[in-house]
Amino acid sequence: MTEYVIKQNQFKTKYLGNHLYHFHSITSTQTFLKKLVAQNIATPGYVVLADHQRMGRGTQGREWFALPKPQLTFSVLIQPSIPIKNFPILNILCSSLLVQIFRSFNIEAQIKWPNDVLIGGKKISGILSELVMIQSKPCLIVGVGVNIEANLDDFPPELQNKATALSMHRQDIDRMEILELFLQELEILIDEWSTDQLLLYTQACFNETWRSKYQKIEIKKEEKIIQGTIHGINSMGALEIQTENGLETIHSRSMIVDSTY
Ligand code: BTN
Repeated sequence: MTEYVIKQNQFKTKYLGNHLYHFHSITSTQTFLKKLVAQNIATPGYVVLADHQRMGRGTQGREWFALPKPQLTFSVLIQPSIPIKNFPILNILCSSLLVQIFRSFNIEAQIKWPNDVLIGGKKISGILSELVMIQSKPCLIVGVGVNIEANLDDFPPELQNKATALSMHRQDIDRMEILELFLQELEILIDEWSTDQLLLYTQACFNETWRSKYQKIEIKKEEKIIQGTIHGINSMGALEIQTENGLETIHSRSMIVDSTY
């Protein structure tokens, strides 16, 4: 039995998503795409999409909760032309893209640093970016999970006041449309925009959607609790907090540097 179908050129993009593996059920789109990279099969633009993940991976070794109905879970391989030290901003950039897509459907959404998208203050989407090398060139596997179809009681009790799904806000949006819009926008941003433009755009989206709303923050850094106001994000995607003792920089651990597959 074939586990997946390969679809070619189904989106209006130049190359992102032109080679798409669509699974009904998979352990993790991220792990599968990593294997394709390790086997020298995947090239930039490859996308692995699944309706269900049985072992979806979240940031910091956490699990991405598997909801019963079909969701939007995919991983895309990109080769950004910006310096590798700036790659972490792409995480926030991808969250910004999702925010803009939801807003284009008149749904108010926000970024939550470093990689979450919120609707009504609850998480609808998370992003996991992992660095891989292809012929000595740094590439990223960007894994995106969007909760599409769910009722509150589909989530475990501990997530019920923290998570949401698109169907709780709108019923008429096709998940493939979200995927296509995401790939179209991402392709333009990574291929046509300079590092400075990407940085300014990401910082502006961040300021507009999160800093302006959540000015005061308390965050745990190593064993220390940092309190202050959000200053912004720097060129490496790190969060800057203005405290009584000066500027504190909080680095995201959501970009896992892993070349061991
Ligand atoms: C997080 O918020 O912790 C990040 C979640 C990322 C989940 C996506 S779903 C598609 C891709 N495949 C995975 O196994 N994880 C990412």
